[in-house]
Amino acid sequence: MHILVNRQRLPVAPEWRDETLLNVLREHLGLTGTKFGCGAGQCGACTVLVDGHAQRSCLLPVNAVGQQAVETIEGLAGADGHLHPVQQAWLDERVPQCGYCQAGQIMATVALLRQDPAPGPARIDEALAGNLCRCGTQQRIRAGVQRAATLTRKPA
Ligand code: FES
Repeated sequence: MHILVNRQRLPVAPEWRDETLLNVLREHLGLTGTKFGCGAGQCGACTVLVDGHAQRSCLLPVNAVGQQAVETIEGLAGADGHLHPVQQAWLDERVPQCGYCQAGQIMATVALLRQDPAPGPARIDEALAGNLCRCGTQQRIRAGVQRAATLTRKPA
């Protein structure tokens, strides 16, 4: 069995096929940018994109992924190291504090901006409501999303 992660087709060994996508990403494939928080779908730390939609990878069995494209934080920057606009916005706005939830916040933001390139405050809050931040960076996260929207709309 293989899964498509960050545009690469990667093998999943037989002993990992009954695991969650999160465990396979972190413990089998070494993609530790996606974090384990609650393990119960409650915190959003494990958010990745599956076919462009934000998903809790702690709840998703890897054998349910099939041929859908999985995107993780490791796949956002370009091959030349050029940051994704959301990553750049996070740096510009100095969003993270401890950083633990931020990969999930960023992936949820990428999904949001693909659906809605100019979200208002209510839409941002709704889209990120399931991504918890115990450091209280929500205001900077909102600013980061708005800056990312601006960067995304700018012609390269
Ligand atoms: Fe998946 Fe918390 S670790 S939602």
